[in-house]
Amino acid sequence: MGISIALTKGRLEEESIKILDKANFDPTELKNKGRKLVFKDGKEDIKYFLVKAADSITYVEHGVADIGVVGKDTILESDNNCYEVLDLGVGKCNFIVASLPNNDIFKKVGHVKIGSKYPKVAKEYFKKKEMDVEVIKIEGSVELAPILGLCDGIVDIMETGTTLKENGLVVLDTICSISARVIVNKASFKMKQEEIQSFIERIRKVI
Ligand code: PRP
Repeated sequence: MGISIALTKGRLEEESIKILDKANFDPTELKNKGRKLVFKDGKEDIKYFLVKAADSITYVEHGVADIGVVGKDTILESDNNCYEVLDLGVGKCNFIVASLPNNDIFKKVGHVKIGSKYPKVAKEYFKKKEMDVEVIKIEGSVELAPILGLCDGIVDIMETGTTLKENGLVVLDTICSISARVIVNKASFKMKQEEIQSFIERIRKVI
């Protein structure tokens, strides 16, 4: 039986292709992708889809893709019901809390506003800290929000730290580390056990 894999496009794309190559799959079509979104492996009965991170989880959750490669950040933000089977050890970064240096949210008295692309992660973090904050959902360039005064601090991912530094923000706390994970649809895991186990094992050996 063939399997289908939803890969996350963008940052994790190149790393995922490298791993597939190392594990002796043939992702040649993915390397010459143009505007295509569905690709066939050159050796195996595998179809790859290139989608946004959150959509990768959606496709796997609905069983349209058997397997997904997606960042732990997106997994934590979702309410997914898939198996997380492997840490690929790439796309490593941290979830952090940051603010302008003169606005330490942990010392602020009164209403605190937090901007984030990850409202669920942000809410859970502050709930654990027993801090009552308002979380404002932002779609991107989150570092801009405290500079413009939309919020006091942000919860975001930091990879090199360059974006924070170049915008004068400082890290107040690190929430957790994240990296790319392999997720599997629960029904597929039973129905296509052999194919999926074999895929996971081949990947596991090269990471
Ligand atoms: C992410 C993240 C930070 C930046 C961190 O944004 O939200 O803004 O990368 O990387 P750094 O620590 O290496 O500077 P992304 O580039 O994905 O774009 P977006 O803000 O438009 O979502």
